[in-house]
Amino acid sequence: MRVLIINGPNLNMLGIRQPEVYGYDTYSDLVRYCHNQAELLDIDLVCFQSNHEGEIIDKIQDAYKKFDGIIINAGAYTHYSIAIMDALKSVNIPSIEVHLSDIYQRESYRHVSYIKEACIKSIVGLGFEGYKLALETLKNL
Ligand code: DQA
Repeated sequence: MRVLIINGPNLNMLGIRQPEVYGYDTYSDLVRYCHNQAELLDIDLVCFQSNHEGEIIDKIQDAYKKFDGIIINAGAYTHYSIAIMDALKSVNIPSIEVHLSDIYQRESYRHVSYIKEACIKSIVGLGFEGYKLALETLKNL
């Protein structure tokens, strides 16, 4: 099974950005954590991060017929990118939305997720563990 994890803008700043919200673990820690979990589940994993909407869309389109699942934390694009939602709907690959923080307990502008509409599941507020749960969910499909 092949899974693609996409992390969007500012997630490369983990460990530095708002540690009171996102913690002190870095993006490299997250990638290592995800690879360890994927190995336990016998999943072939690719991790991708970009601060650019178009690059994220290109990556989703490239995944067509290459990946069996997508896990996406689109960062702030979650709340306004119809284009990323459309890309996910276009490739028709089972996708799961993950957020480190609980977007529904934060500012009201974070309560809307366009990404959710293109996903089979949303996992929020569980930190790194959300990615593990997403990998397990895809594995069990
Ligand atoms: C986030 C939540 C978003 O609202 C925010 O813009 C992020 C991170 C999360 O993982 O909690 O960049 O997606």
